[in-house]
Amino acid sequence: MLESALQLQHPFNLQDRTALVTGAGRGIGRATALALAQAGARVIVVSRTRSQLDEVVDAITTAGGQAIAIDADLTIADSMEAVVSQAEGLWSAAGIDILVNNAAISPYVKGAEDMTTQEWRHLLDVNLDGPFELTRRLGKAMLNRGKGVVINVTSLAGARAIPKLSAYTSSKSALTGLTRALGVEWAERGVRVNAVAPGYTATEMTAELHKREQLRTAIEERTPIGRFAAPEEIAWPIVFLASDAASYITGTTLFVDGGWTAL
Ligand SMILES: NC(=O)c1ccc[n+]([C@@H]2O[C@H](COP(=O)([O-])OP(=O)(O)OC[C@H]3O[C@@H](n4cnc5c(N)ncnc54)[C@H](OP(=O)(O)O)[C@@H]3O)[C@@H](O)[C@H]2O)c1
Repeated sequence: MLESALQLQHPFNLQDRTALVTGAGRGIGRATALALAQAGARVIVVSRTRSQLDEVVDAITTAGGQAIAIDADLTIADSMEAVVSQAEGLWSAAGIDILVNNAAISPYVKGAEDMTTQEWRHLLDVNLDGPFELTRRLGKAMLNRGKGVVINVTSLAGARAIPKLSAYTSSKSALTGLTRALGVEWAERGVRVNAVAPGYTATEMTAELHKREQLRTAIEERTPIGRFAAPEEIAWPIVFLASDAASYITGTTLFVDGGWTAL
């Protein structure tokens, strides 16, 4: 009896919540979609590659969860509008309870002096403007309903400089600032805004450096826990921040970096 009462009140339970995860076709976004579904949420997965999204939806629905894919390039305003109107209308138009801004790119490894304006703008379009544009649109509906959670996936680069990644470092620092700003701005209106800052995680984004033995070893040695994270190790802290267990947490960044920023 006590056991079932405890389970019903479980603050980590996300049943009857709808989550939208960007960049959910692979890596951290995919793991986050699966973890949110495992916690009971209905999940909308968004990225550009339909085949990857279909695989994630299949994995969730096969396990008994609910998921829907929307393929869209989040740098295109019309595509973003389409995602918002489609997402808000799903599942009896209950609206989005949880937004995870996870989609990002890191294609340029070069000194700032060699970077073109176009490269700089493209990176900021995906990593900063994308989360802002989606958050202000879905956030408005959350504010009207008086409830909602936004989680921005930033990086240890939001707090530490990474050489030859000036645009990426700037984008994640700005997203950390946006997290603080909206966390405070929306605090009294029922919408919490937080960030999870991963350290080096084994995904496609880090696949190249993972192959470079010397670099990989240097990163592992610099990381107090001594290894890269698995995507699931980033996903579960996101689930925590999305849940009522984190009801008094807003405007903050949770570093999930194996101790990197503590050193
Ligand atoms: N891996 C790490 O070591 C690490 C460390 C710190 C922070 N992070 C952060 O964690 C998040 C996830 O990274 P990851 O390592 O999982 O990267 P990943 O494997 O490269 O996945 C990135 C996801 O974003 C999507 N995406 C990229 N551009 C998009 C666009 N214009 N519109 C819609 N979706 C787009 C990609 O799908 P499509 O290409 O199909 O669109 C993909 O699903 C990012 O915010 C990253 O900055 C990663």
